[in-house]
Amino acid sequence: MIEVRHSARVPRTLPDALPASTPFFASSVHPGSLLGISDLELDEVAQILTRASFLEHEDPLTRARRLAKRKIALLFYESSTRTRTSFELAAKALGADTTLVSSLSSSIEKGESLKDTGLTLRALGAEAILLRHPNSGAPWLLEQVTGLPVLNAGDGMHEHPSQALLDLRTILACLRSGVTTVAADTLSGITVTIAGDILHSRVARSNMLLLPRLGAQVQLCGPPALLPAMVAEVGPGIRIERDFDRALASSQIVMMLRIQAERLAGLQLDLDEYRRDYQLTAARLAAHAPAAHILHPGPIIRGLELTAEVADGPQSRILDQVRNGVAIRMALVERALDLHSSTVSGAAQ
Ligand code: NCD
Repeated sequence: MIEVRHSARVPRTLPDALPASTPFFASSVHPGSLLGISDLELDEVAQILTRASFLEHEDPLTRARRLAKRKIALLFYESSTRTRTSFELAAKALGADTTLVSSLSSSIEKGESLKDTGLTLRALGAEAILLRHPNSGAPWLLEQVTGLPVLNAGDGMHEHPSQALLDLRTILACLRSGVTTVAADTLSGITVTIAGDILHSRVARSNMLLLPRLGAQVQLCGPPALLPAMVAEVGPGIRIERDFDRALASSQIVMMLRIQAERLAGLQLDLDEYRRDYQLTAARLAAHAPAAHILHPGPIIRGLELTAEVADGPQSRILDQVRNGVAIRMALVERALDLHSSTVSGAAQ
């Protein structure tokens, strides 16, 4: 059994009042921002994919002049390995200066609000902010108060749009020879199973909002405590299949998720039962999905949602996802600052 309570360190409510007249999950106001995956039209998704491939293969010295000396702040209120490092490496590969502010080593620990932290970063010259925060909607608030492009690096249980884009890049490399032109039928005939803790996963949500727009069928699999029936109502192209073996048998892509222990808030789970019903083992994979590609956003918990044999096995695409993260995030950081410049110069004309 595990029982996990929220950490007392980070406030669970948004620290600053929202303007009363504005809908909470409005789209971004800054053209360079990426707050939620639905902010992007499919042609913008295609542009980002194409740009990611271009930048990935560009001569590093030429690439490093693209954003030379531009300033980007990484503001992290939750721990992160892949997302933070890949955003940082992406920004640096384009020549930008980055600075990391993390909640455990800054004035945030002394009680400074998100708003004041954002205004401080802007006063220090930040031209874009990458934000990870435990509260859904925090990136939207930060964008409102700073006017800067904000890239959502994961907000609570809400969204993780850059992860959905790097997952899409990985899926296209597996199934469509890496094409970057995407349309409403690019993934038609493809079933993607997302398995595990769907309820608390921002990765699941962003993927559920993106993949059906390209024609994929998204199949959700997990126990009722981590996958209430209403989750499938997010949109069309999404269904629930509680039997993991059956879900595997119809999938070309299987995206495994970690149990979000930090968000369970007292919910109790029998982990032996969970392993029995939902753990991805080599035997299960061989029996039901011998050709499927296995994705996982990380961090993986070996021996819980999947075994080490699967994580390290020939069907695993987990490290490809990590590599794709850098390429996608180069395109996103460049987009944030390009559109930032055009907004500023457009305003000056
Ligand atoms: C995910 C996240 O933070 O939402 N990790 C990531 O960004 N690669 C998934 C997780 O924490 O389980």
